Amino acid sequence: GKTWNIAVIPGDGIGPEVIAEGIKVLNRIAELDGSFRFDFTYFPWGCEYYLKHGKMMDDDGLEKLRGFDAIYLGAVGFPGVPDHISLWDLLLKIRKGFEQYVNLRPIKLLAGAPCPLKDVAREQIDMLVIRENTEGEYAGAGDWLFRGKPEEVVLQTGVFSRKGTERIIRYAYETARKTGRSLTSISKGNALNYSMVFWDQIFAEIGREYPDVKTSSYLVDAASMFFVKQPERFEIVVTSNLFGDILTDLGAAIAGGLGLAAGANLNPERIYPSMFEPVHGSAPDIAGKGIANPLAAIWSASQMLEFFGYSEWADRVLQSIEQVMVEGSALTPDMGGASTTQEVGTRVAYQLSELVNNRLLLEE
Ligand code: NAD
Ligand code: IPM
Ligand code: MN
Repeated sequence: GKTWNIAVIPGDGIGPEVIAEGIKVLNRIAELDGSFRFDFTYFPWGCEYYLKHGKMMDDDGLEKLRGFDAIYLGAVGFPGVPDHISLWDLLLKIRKGFEQYVNLRPIKLLAGAPCPLKDVAREQIDMLVIRENTEGEYAGAGDWLFRGKPEEVVLQTGVFSRKGTERIIRYAYETARKTGRSLTSISKGNALNYSMVFWDQIFAEIGREYPDVKTSSYLVDAASMFFVKQPERFEIVVTSNLFGDILTDLGAAIAGGLGLAAGANLNPERIYPSMFEPVHGSAPDIAGKGIANPLAAIWSASQMLEFFGYSEWADRVLQSIEQVMVEGSALTPDMGGASTTQEVGTRVAYQLSELVNNRLLLEE
């Protein structure tokens, strides 16, 4: 059978705890399917590595990752190493270096997921945020002038290239066309009088090639309000790097919490490996306690399955997550339960086996 070679970067804090459960689930799937297997290669990069070796990853880290079919990452960043160093030298370096310009973050209220909104039906929260993932506000460009002087000035420059803006917006239109869903652009042209005016212009330009796609455009402040008040307004959403970052934590909050929010960093051309990682960070406040919710990492693993072409397995993972949440006996404290990370992962794997075995019984 086929072997998928996965580079695993468990990373910091709860990263290793949740990734172990995602791998448990992936191995169970390979076992149940029988036609493919996973080969996991671990890279011990992260903040501990930095404290020992003075760097977040090996100098030739990207070359080491290059040949893999995908990267599975936990979280990066921990007190003791400045965040802008740890993130820029590992996570953002990979996203940028491998041109993973599409960040897919589903915001979908699954059955059984806790939702803080009143009187909301599940169907009302079902969107896919497509976040630009390599440039924009995260260009890393800027300057620090007259450091420490009274005239000190700091510049942080957004960079929106035509190529970078067109490719993410085109990807979003294609996704909307393929799925028959509406497309919303979220920007801020009223205040950001260069970058977002350009963004809006390209959104309109490319839209002319997609007359079949129903579109709308929101300012990010109003969009944040509607995410909470009327989430059903949004189906496919395309937005810039920083707005996408913020909106997807907000989206996580309305759809079950950060413990359930999944993300895929795609290089759609498949020239470089894509990377799958939960939306959440290393959660230093709960790290090492064995109570982190692994469902976000598991859902991210299902995005990997989808990317490899195993849509059925991706669906089954979501179904199993739903069953575990509906049934409610194996949930971590963030979801009101009292179970450990490992118990939840084991439970999802068990549900997958049940799902497959029951189906086999039905077919007999
Ligand atoms: P965070 O996402 O780590 O945590 C925010 C809150 O959500 C915390 O209270 C945490 O306990 C809770 N939480 C997050 N994930 C959870 C899970 N799986 N189960 C249960 N509760 C969960 O954000 P933060 O505290 O702002 O950042 C901590 C560190 O992580 C920082 O260094 C930050 O830069 C980094 N970070 C990394 C990533 C990434 O690697 N993709 C993403 C976000 C933040
Ligand atoms: C995320 C994170 C990262 C981001 C940080 C850690 C650099 O918040 O993946 O959402 O802003 O993209
Ligand atoms: Mn974030």
